[in-house]
Amino acid sequence: MPFYRDHIYPQLVKVLGDPKPIREVRERIVPLAEGRVLEIGVGPGVNFVHYDAVRVTKVYALEPNAGMIRLAERQRRRTTVDITFIGLPGEQIPLEDRSVDTVLSTFTLCTIPGVVEALRGVRRVLKPSGKLIFFEHGLSPDPRVRRWQEWSEPIPHWLFEGCHVTRDIPSLIEQSGFRIEQMETAYLAGFPKSWTHCWWGTAIPHDDNAHLDPR
Ligand SMILES: C[S@@+](CC[C@H](N)C(=O)[O-])C[C@H]1O[C@@H](n2cnc3c(N)ncnc32)[C@H](O)[C@@H]1O
Repeated sequence: MPFYRDHIYPQLVKVLGDPKPIREVRERIVPLAEGRVLEIGVGPGVNFVHYDAVRVTKVYALEPNAGMIRLAERQRRRTTVDITFIGLPGEQIPLEDRSVDTVLSTFTLCTIPGVVEALRGVRRVLKPSGKLIFFEHGLSPDPRVRRWQEWSEPIPHWLFEGCHVTRDIPSLIEQSGFRIEQMETAYLAGFPKSWTHCWWGTAIPHDDNAHLDPR
C-alpha cells in the first residue's frame, strides 16, 4: 500500500521510534561515529542531532523511502553536519570499497529484506580500520519470549513495513565478516517484550588475511 508506506509508516516510526530509553542509548552510541559515515535506513533522521560535528566530516544518509527522507530533511536542519541523502536500499550501497570510517544502523537490520547482502555491502565499504555501530532489536534468548515473537511477528511485520522481531542480528553481523567488539543488551521501551529485545554496540571488520600463514 503506497499511501501507508510513504505517509503513515514514516509518521509511525517518527512518533514511536524514539522513546526515552531508546534516545538515551542513541545519545551514547551515535557520538562514537567519526570521519566519513554511512547511515543505513535513516528513517525520520532522529540520529542526526546526536552526531558529533567535530568528529564527523560527512554523513551519507541512505534511505529508500521518500516519505522518510521528507521527515529526515527537517532533522538535517538541526545539525551542522554535512549530510547527503541517498535514496537507495541497503542492498545497493553506491560507495567505493573501503571508503567510510563508520557505518551506523539503528533499527534497520530488522527490516532490510536482503539483510545479509546489505551487511556484506557494509563490510565492503568500511575501511579496514572502520567500525559498524549498531542498535537493533530481535530474537530474545528467553524461550517464552521467543514463542511470543514467533506468534506475533506478522503484526510488526505489517505495521512496520517488513520488520522482523525474530532475527538474531549479532549472529548475522558476525556471519558477514565482523567481530563484535562490545555489546550490551536489554529489553527497552514500554512495548511488549517480544518487540523490544535490543542489542547495541560496535563491530569491526575481520582481518581479510588473518587466516593466511604469515611464513
Ligand atoms: C524502523 S525504521 C528505523 C529508522 C531509523 N534508523 C531509526 O532508528 O529510527 C527502519 C528503516 O529502514 C528502512 N528500510 C527499509 N528497507 C530498507 C532497505 N532495503 N535498505 C535500507 N533501509 C531500509 C525503512 O524505510 C525505515 O526507514
